[in-house]
Amino acid sequence: MPADTLTLTDNRTGKTYEIPIADGTIRAIDLRQIKTSADDFGMMTYDPGFLNTASCKSRITFIDGDKGILEYRGYPIAQLAEQSNFLEVCYLTLRGELPNPAQLAEWTAGIRKETSVDESSKNVLAGFQRDAHPMGMFISSLAALGTLYPESKRVSDPAVRLASIYRLMAKAPILAACGYRHSKGLPYVAPNPDLSYAGNFLTMMFASADGKYDLNPALERAMDILFILHADHEQNCSTSTMRVVGSAQTDPYTSAAAAASALYGPLHGGANEAVLSMLRVIGSKDRIPEYVQKVKAGEVKLMGFGHRVYKNYDPRARIIKRAADEVFAVTGKNPLLEMAIELERIALEDEYFVKRKLYPNVDFYSGIIYEAMGFPTPMFTVLFALGRMIGWLAQWDELVQDSDQKISRPRQVFLGPARRDFAPMDQR
Ligand code: SDX
Repeated sequence: MPADTLTLTDNRTGKTYEIPIADGTIRAIDLRQIKTSADDFGMMTYDPGFLNTASCKSRITFIDGDKGILEYRGYPIAQLAEQSNFLEVCYLTLRGELPNPAQLAEWTAGIRKETSVDESSKNVLAGFQRDAHPMGMFISSLAALGTLYPESKRVSDPAVRLASIYRLMAKAPILAACGYRHSKGLPYVAPNPDLSYAGNFLTMMFASADGKYDLNPALERAMDILFILHADHEQNCSTSTMRVVGSAQTDPYTSAAAAASALYGPLHGGANEAVLSMLRVIGSKDRIPEYVQKVKAGEVKLMGFGHRVYKNYDPRARIIKRAADEVFAVTGKNPLLEMAIELERIALEDEYFVKRKLYPNVDFYSGIIYEAMGFPTPMFTVLFALGRMIGWLAQWDELVQDSDQKISRPRQVFLGPARRDFAPMDQR
C-alpha cells in the first residue's frame, strides 16, 4: 500500500516535498515549508467561502451531499424524525448516544429546572418597537441572557458548560415566544414545564391572554419533528460562527447570539422567510415560468433551492413535505403549497437547475408549514434557531474539548498597496 503522503514539486524551485495525508486531508500548515527563498513566508491555501477546507474534526453529524444522506451520531434523520422526539435527539446530539430512561429523565429535569426567564430578559424585549424583527429581538435577548450568568465564561468547566446548555435549551423558546407576544401587545404566557418541549413552546406562543390554549397533538408532533430536522447540520455558516466565536473562549450565550446572527442571513436560515416572500411575488402558478426565467437570467435566486453540500434532494425537505400533510389535515391546506410543488416540478425538469444540481433544501417547504401553523413569516428563522440551538451547543462543547483547536484567526492574500510615507494635506 503506497505511503499516505502527497508528493509536491514546486516548479519555481524544482524542490519536492512529502506532505502527510490523514483522514483524506493534508494539514495546511504543512505547506508553509514550501518557500522560494529563506525570507519567503511560505505556501498557504486560498479558499474563499471555505468550499474545500475542513475547520475541525467532529463526531456529531454526517452528511453525504451526493447521496442526500444526513445522520446525527450515525442515526439516519428519517428514523429520528419518525421514531424519536426532540429532547431525546438533543441528548443524542450532545452526548453521542440515545439516552436510557434515567439519562433522559435527568436531561429533561435539567432543562425543566431552567424553564423560566428573569424579569430583566422580559424588560430587554419590552424595549423593542412592536414591529422589530423577531430575529433582532432573539439575538439581543440571547446576548443579554449571558449577562445574568457571568460564571458561564468558565468554559473549560464541564459542569459550567452543562448549566449553560440547560439554560439556553430551556430559555431560548421562552425568549422567542415572549418576543412574539411583545410584538402583538399580548401578555406573556408562563412556561408550563409539564408540557412537551414543542407543546410548551406552542402554548407560550398562541395561548389566549388568560393562558388557555387547545394544544393539538398533530401540530405539537409536527413542531417536534421540525425541531429535530433543524437540530444540526455539521459546519454550516451559523455553526461555524459558533465555533469561531467560541474559539476565543467567549461564553456560549454570546456565541449563540453570534451564531443566530449568521443564521439570520437570507442565504442561510433567513431563506425560509424569503421563500414565502418569493411565492407571494410569483403570485400564481401560471406566473411561475416567468419567474424561473428571471432566476435563469441571474436577476433573482430561487430561494429554498440549492445547497453547498447537498447536490441531491435535501432529505429534510422530503420529511417536511410529508409532515405538511398532517399539519394541513388540522389547519387546512396552505394554498402556497400547490404553487411550491409546481415550482419544484418545473425547476427539477429545467436544465439550468439540473446542471447545477439545485434541489429544494430544508427551507423550501418549512415556511409553508410554519405559516399554516399560525406563525408570522418573520418568526420562521427564529423557529430554525430554536431547533439549531442544540447543534450550536453540541459543536461548541466538542470544540472546547478538542486539544487540536486554537483561536480562529485565518490569514489573507495581501494585494497591496505596498509601504508608502504619509502625505501631508498640501501634497494630496
Ligand atoms: C441552509 O450549509 C448548510 O448546511 C445550511 C443549512 C443548514 O441546515 O444549516 O442546510 C440551511 O442555509 C439551506 C440553504 C438556504 N438558502 C437558500 O435557499 C438561498 C438560495 N440558495 C443559494 O443562495 C445557494 O444555493 C446557497 C447559498 C445555499 C449555496 O450557495 P453556494 O454553495 O455558494 O453555491 P453558488 O452560489 O456558488 O451557486 C453555484 C451555482 C451558481 O451559478 P453559476 O455561477 O455557476 O452560473 O448555482 C447557482 C449560482 O448562481 N445557484 C442558484 C441558486 N443556488 C445556486 N441559482 C438560482 N437560485 C438558487 N437558489
